[in-house]
Order: sequence, then structure tokens, then C-alpha cells
Amino acid sequence: MRFIVTAGPTREHIDPVRFLSNPSTGRMGFAVARAAAERGHEVTLVSGPVALKTPKGVTRVDVTSAREMLAAVEDALGDAQDGAGAPVIVATAAVADWRPAQTAAKKLKKRDMTGVLRLVRNPDILKTVKCARKIGFAAETGDALAEAARKCREKGLAMVVANDVTEKGAGFGVSTNRVAFVKSDGSAERLPLMSKLAVARRIVRFAETLA
Ligand code: C5P
Repeated sequence: MRFIVTAGPTREHIDPVRFLSNPSTGRMGFAVARAAAERGHEVTLVSGPVALKTPKGVTRVDVTSAREMLAAVEDALGDAQDGAGAPVIVATAAVADWRPAQTAAKKLKKRDMTGVLRLVRNPDILKTVKCARKIGFAAETGDALAEAARKCREKGLAMVVANDVTEKGAGFGVSTNRVAFVKSDGSAERLPLMSKLAVARRIVRFAETLA
């Protein structure tokens, strides 16, 4: 099967030296890419700026902004959106929801910055791409399961991997995760605390059932 995995944060530049971003390290997405490659799948990993080594056998495309990430995913998807050759998309990236309405070509002076930051919405990559097999993530700070079920419906996903990022051992910058698989049929499977690689392997096994 073909897998397209998004990973890491995006950066939305205010000027050449300043940007909006988040603390995603890319570990979950890189683990999914590795797990899929280990199972013999063809993997394209579209990554925001991270400090991780590309897993063996994985094709990596580096991007900076959300709009670049969307273009790279659409490029990797090509015409194969549905049917036998269609890939699975696993969206682990922590995409910035907003970007500055304008990016200054030159570094802004401190004195010029007060009140200049006007934000516009970024495209929702996972919602935008037309693909029959989409798996998303829901990083929440509260009722992760209910939010995940809503996202599953709204974005037309086969499954949402839900986690409460405020929980110890889950979320940004740690090597473990405690997640629940919320599926399009409404079922939810809570997994114990496990390594991100172990979670990734479970995700890949689920994706294989979508073939
Ligand atoms: O709606 P929310 O941002 O919580 O959804 C998270 C899921 O959607 C993740 O799988 C994330 O990678 C994806 N997403 C996206 N593009 C965005 C925002 C989120 O692909 N602009």
C-alpha cells in the first residue's frame, strides 16, 4: 500500500526571522512512517521543520508552512484518490491553524510591531484532500473522545487517534503516548500507555484493514 504521512509543526512566518508555530517534534509521524516502511509499504513523509532522521526506506518531503504542506500532500496524492492504488493518509502534523495575513519581506523593527499581527485561517489539510482512507489525530486538552468523534465525522475520516496532551506521558515531545482509536462506526478503543512506535504499529495495522 501507499502511505502519505504528515508530521511535525508548521511555521507561519511573520517576517524572515519570526514565525508562529507549536512544540510538535514530529516523533509520532516519524514513527508511523517507520512502522509503515517496516511493513513493506511505500511511504511519503511530508514533514515540517523537525530535528529527526528520516526512517529507512521512506521518501521525505520537507515543508515549512501549512500551505506548502497541503501542496506537498496533494502532489504525493496525485490522481490516485480512491480505489485500488489510492494511498492512506495519516495526518499527525500539528498544523498551525492561523497564519499572518502578510509576511514581511524584511525583518520588522521592534517599534513597528505593536498591533501589526493580523491572522487568517490556514487550510485544513486533512479536510481538504480528497482521499477515501484518512486517519487523523486529535490532540485535546479535555474531552478527547467526544472531540475525536466530531472530527471523524467532520473530516470524513476512517479513524481518529485521540489523546489528551495534558496527560503525563502523552502528547508533545515525549516518546510515549496514551491514545484511543475512535473509528467512523462510532466505536472507541482505549490503548494503554505505550511507545509512539508501538502506537504507530497499531495504526499501520488498522490502515491495512482499509485496503
Ligand atoms: O481540527 P484539529 O486541528 O484538531 O484536527 C487535527 C487533525 O487534523 C490532525 O490529524 C491534523 O494533522 C489535521 N489538520 C490538518 N490541517 C490543519 C489542521 C489540522 O491536516 N490545518
